[in-house]
Amino acid sequence: MRFDENFIQKVIDANNIVEIISQYTELKGRGDQHTGLCPFPDHNEKSPSFSVSEGKQLYHCFGCKKGGNILTFLKTYSGFSFVEAIEYLANRAHIELPRETEPSKGPSRRVSQDLKKQMYRANKFAAVFYHQKLKSLPKDHKLQEYLKRRNLTDEIIDEFRIGYAPEPWDDLTNYLAKKGVPTNVSQKLGLIRANKKGGHFDLFRDRLMFPIFAIDSEVIGFGGRIIDQGQPKYINSVESDIFKKGHSFYGLDKSAKHIRSADRVFVVEGYMDLLALYGRGVKNVVATLGTALTENHVRVLKRWTKNVVLLFDGDQAGQTASARSLPNFFKHDLLPQIFVLPEGKDPDDYISENGKESFLEDAQQSQDLFLSLMKGWFDGYRGDPKGKIQIIDQAAPLLKMLGDARLLQMYTEELARRLNEEPRKVYAWVMGGEKPKTPVLKPKAPSFDEADEALSLGGVNEDELVLLGLSLKSLKYLDFFVNQQGLEVLDHKDLKNIFSQVVAQYGQEPENFDKLAHLVVSRVQNPEKIVNLINISSGESGSDQDEYLLKECFIRVKDRYLRRQASVLVTQMKNDPSPSNMEQFVNIQEERKALKELKNIPLGE
Ligand code: UTP
Ligand code: MN
Repeated sequence: MRFDENFIQKVIDANNIVEIISQYTELKGRGDQHTGLCPFPDHNEKSPSFSVSEGKQLYHCFGCKKGGNILTFLKTYSGFSFVEAIEYLANRAHIELPRETEPSKGPSRRVSQDLKKQMYRANKFAAVFYHQKLKSLPKDHKLQEYLKRRNLTDEIIDEFRIGYAPEPWDDLTNYLAKKGVPTNVSQKLGLIRANKKGGHFDLFRDRLMFPIFAIDSEVIGFGGRIIDQGQPKYINSVESDIFKKGHSFYGLDKSAKHIRSADRVFVVEGYMDLLALYGRGVKNVVATLGTALTENHVRVLKRWTKNVVLLFDGDQAGQTASARSLPNFFKHDLLPQIFVLPEGKDPDDYISENGKESFLEDAQQSQDLFLSLMKGWFDGYRGDPKGKIQIIDQAAPLLKMLGDARLLQMYTEELARRLNEEPRKVYAWVMGGEKPKTPVLKPKAPSFDEADEALSLGGVNEDELVLLGLSLKSLKYLDFFVNQQGLEVLDHKDLKNIFSQVVAQYGQEPENFDKLAHLVVSRVQNPEKIVNLINISSGESGSDQDEYLLKECFIRVKDRYLRRQASVLVTQMKNDPSPSNMEQFVNIQEERKALKELKNIPLGE
């Protein structure tokens, strides 16, 4: 384990599950309870059955029964590994990671967290500066007309914090200095540059500014567009320790939840394309930052959906860019689709001219990128051997990247059909005469469960699980359980173990009752059931139903315990029919009878 328990706890405590989940679904708060539509893409619901408890730091869906804590959420929702989740939460809370977990190795290349913090702070100042400049432009400023023409409404401007970099040479330079941002930090970010006279000047001047946000809403860079015509059309922030174009998308911080719920993403090339789609209600969209789509981009996208639609410009460059990206998708067994735009159109033009509905309709016609490329290879093909070889040579490197044998087979069959050759032969050509490889499953990053030896609670009796769940739901129930010496009667070893920890912890810090649920959920492999029982949505702990259920379950668990004891005694009595054994046996039977009375004991407040 790379992180120790204390660090993990600190990181978890520093974050709020309500804030994190709010990024993906809109939650409405009622005291400790927040409810909204379930964010999980496999549960497409119309009325909200998802709820998050702020006090207990748990989430739970009545509809699809998913539930857990902040780590479960990041793991199942965002596909994070345990380590990634902890790193994400630590960064979010500005907690410095332990040294050995720094992503770049070697002390010389390691950037101090402190510098990064300063860089985020400086970028934030710059974003606020630009945004305020735009908001305070006079009505007759040349930019106003341009904004209108590009359909950049107030709503979009505010949501994306679009700004304006003013004309003077050093407005931002002075502003950042006044805010106490060290010059070298502003320089590293590419916001300002040194001039020959030893002074500094702003890089972005008289440009429309698009701040680029990381998924945790930190500003990592900017794109600046010239107003109307001119060159260069766009200037982007330089790459820095906090800004890597090959990992980042424009807009993902806003669109992630929409990508999840649509279970599909449109990838466009430009800031304006993204805003055009988003502004017209197609919100499941991301934009690359003027670079090719890298394997890292694919890794990021895969966390949100496996259904990727490339929506590149309808020109040669756009087509080449989609073809180039295919290997990166194939390496991850993703089959992107391509939405081919008419020659000379970009997504912005297209949706502006056709509107959202017909855009979405046309998107249904998106084609499998590989098949669409393959079609291109057959342009001018006449069935001669040379042509066949050329096609095989284009297909082979791509197909060999697929890890999934079924995909490889299907594509090969399609290729064979078009080549008018036997699939078996084509397969052999593609693999270069090699025998078909059995695809090796890529090793999974160790999950939290494996890393932390989470308890499986497999085979646990439902009643015992209910006792644990309800005891975590309400203090009153835990008190009942403790007063009845419930630990003793439990049968399942792991459950008993974790339950004793709960009781012990509660004894030490009774004021932290609410944290107990969360502790348990962290340690259990499939916490859904327990979370369901804690049943955070039903709110009021202490409904009659819960109380009834608690007692029923306790009675059954204890009765089973007594029967186990009785049967042990029966075996003993065969060898030793002593009066004391007899007496004990009778006592047990009495106790079993008396158990029913428990139902009438009122639970204390
Ligand atoms: P485009 O030239 O297609 O721009 O470049 P666009 O998004 O359609 O912009 P408008 O509609 O003319 O305003 C696509 C992307 O390539 C990068 C930018 O990220 C841009 O959004 N780019 C383009 C640059 O980085 N520099 C440039 O000079 C041009
Ligand atoms: Mn455009």
